[in-house]
Amino acid sequence: MPRIVTLPGDGIGPEVLAPAVDLLRRLVPAVEVEEHVFGGASIDAHGTALTDDVLAACRGADAVLLAAVGGPKWDTTDPSKPRPEQGLLGLRKELGLFANLRPVRPIPALYDASPLKRERIEGTDLLVVRELTGGIYFGAKTRTETTASDLCAYSTQEITRIAEVAFRAARRKVTSVDKANVLETSRLWRATVTAVAAGHDVPLDHLLVDNAAMQLVANPADFDVIVTENMFGDILSDEAAMITGSIGMLPSASLGADGDPGVFEPVHGSAPDIAGTGAANPLAMFLSTALLLRHGLSLETEAAAVESAVDAALRDGLRTRDLGGTASTAEATRAVLAHL
Ligand code: NAD
Ligand code: IPM
Ligand code: MN
Repeated sequence: MPRIVTLPGDGIGPEVLAPAVDLLRRLVPAVEVEEHVFGGASIDAHGTALTDDVLAACRGADAVLLAAVGGPKWDTTDPSKPRPEQGLLGLRKELGLFANLRPVRPIPALYDASPLKRERIEGTDLLVVRELTGGIYFGAKTRTETTASDLCAYSTQEITRIAEVAFRAARRKVTSVDKANVLETSRLWRATVTAVAAGHDVPLDHLLVDNAAMQLVANPADFDVIVTENMFGDILSDEAAMITGSIGMLPSASLGADGDPGVFEPVHGSAPDIAGTGAANPLAMFLSTALLLRHGLSLETEAAAVESAVDAALRDGLRTRDLGGTASTAEATRAVLAHL
């Protein structure tokens, strides 16, 4: 019997997680679901964004389904105050989730919902492989009254293992994105990814991150797998989301060592501006549930069923507000469940 930990978090998190659990139960009736507070909700309850108990529960699960954390209530520039995002970063680090997969697969029914021209996005099917437990996110931080610093560090071991993930996932080519014209970490990144490429039969090119940001909207269909460091991957994946029409469409899988539990979560945040209005698009959360079924539980048929139901609902005209329509979270959920 699969055991899942769910972390609804904050803002629209609980609003999109609850319907995803309904979806999961439909497909895997025997699933055991254990819900825990996380992020801002955990700060309110326990004074910290991730408690030891919740971390232990996640470690013991087959997979973790996470919605989103954060919000104005906990926003602070005071380094001594707890932040919801620390829970997310702590969970990724503690579970060793170094590989974040963010597939960008625009659904044909939504080609005209993207701000990009249809002829540019047609045929796009790319994967951002984001390094998730290193780089500037996790380096030493300093802060005084008048200065602050964040250290960006990478080792060849960290770069090699994420590059291996990228080459194994690639079908046509790997594009490694860095800032090797300026950053020492990027020069090590470029040399290391090049060395990994020698062991694979997949072409590799390198792009500087500023150019990559431009190419992503100019020629998105040219990309297959993009592999990049933690912060570049964060930024480029939000940009790439618009190829699919909305950040509310993009799922992700965060994976560590084989056999360890992964975390499955939408790329978007807690969307405080629409929380409580019933307008959140639950499709990124549903597609993250599909990734949980595929990568976390090895249930490929069930994963594909979720993806087809999402496609079919959109083909039938389902559009939440972020996609230019009027459907509520509840209406979107009913539309997808009806096609399951
Ligand atoms: P956001 O992704 O929450 O929202 C950006 C914009 O996209 C907003 O206008 C929002 O309404 C819209 N949006 C996002 N998801 C949507 C959905 N499912 N349906 C419809 N519209 C959606 O980014 P932000 O506003 O920069 O961040 C808000 C908070 O979320 C911050 O505290 C941030 O740290 C946090 N955050 C958390 C995660 C996570 O938990 N994985 C990811 C990103 C941001
Ligand atoms: C994401 C988010 C997180 C990140 C934040 C909330 C810490 O933006 O998952 O993309 O930067 O990794
Ligand atoms: Mn992000």
